[in-house]
Amino acid sequence: MSGQPPPSPPVASLSAFASELLAGLQARPRAVAPKWFYDERGSALFERICELPEYYPTRTELALLDRHAPAMAALIGPGAEIVEFGAGASRKVRVLLDALDTPRRFVPVDISGAHLERAAAALRAERPGLEVLPQVADFTQSLSLPAAAGRRIGFFPGSSIGNFEPPVAEQLLRRMAGWLAGGGLLIGVDLVKDPAELHAAYNDAQGVTADFNLNLLARANRELGADFVLANWAHSAFYQPALQRIEMHLVSRCDQAVTLCGVRLEFAEGDSVHTENSCKYTVAGFQRLARGAGFEPQAVWTDAARRFSLHWLVPV
Ligand code: AVJ
Repeated sequence: MSGQPPPSPPVASLSAFASELLAGLQARPRAVAPKWFYDERGSALFERICELPEYYPTRTELALLDRHAPAMAALIGPGAEIVEFGAGASRKVRVLLDALDTPRRFVPVDISGAHLERAAAALRAERPGLEVLPQVADFTQSLSLPAAAGRRIGFFPGSSIGNFEPPVAEQLLRRMAGWLAGGGLLIGVDLVKDPAELHAAYNDAQGVTADFNLNLLARANRELGADFVLANWAHSAFYQPALQRIEMHLVSRCDQAVTLCGVRLEFAEGDSVHTENSCKYTVAGFQRLARGAGFEPQAVWTDAARRFSLHWLVPV
């Protein structure tokens, strides 16, 4: 018993959100990772985006899941463990679980603990036979999973893989291939299409996507005591055909200064903060990426209009 408490640090250490936001706003070009959109309010806004008439991915993927769940279940096999990366409202995984032959365990992985526990509690109540083992983790940083109970299947719907630029997506997929050895990955991927349709999906008439984007700054005000004036910022989302991606930015409407964690940040009119990439793929292009990451693409499902794809990948 030394009785000596550890010395307290000279300055309060910043949360991961605070330090990444500050670093991102001090970097050139300014950029902040989209994972920081998803606080309580951001997650609720995203749920609303999924219901928008212009936002086709969610309903298209759900229809694909509904229609092809029996074929997916046959590939997955009985007694599987489903690991969902970035678990949201669990609506999609319910369709999958319903089709599976006695799934043993469901492991939702998410950065937000409150969100996860709520979803887990609801699933447990619905399915007393299913073990639900939520993991609070930022799987882009690190993930240690409990020993597998049955064939381990990854589920990564929603085209969230599109948030990562292709080389980073490939790295993440390679790590997933390691976690899922002997199992497989069911992953949703948004497809390249008419830029007008893409543009509409990220510039909805009700302005929900704009609110979702701006919530990053609102969150900084709420959690970090920053003084962003939301009216001084504009939502901007556009398709970059050469890079096959939608980019979202927050653009300063005027010359302004903001204080964040005691640091004064200056923005000129027109300065932008890059808040999200949403990369789109062709089916062949995504399969190439998956092969490079150590997966064998074994099946793919797309809708008649080829808006969205679901891929079954097996680690080689
Ligand atoms: C959840 C990353 C798939 O990129 O379409 C929706 C997020 N951003 N509208 C997407 C999002 C703006 C979404 N993902």
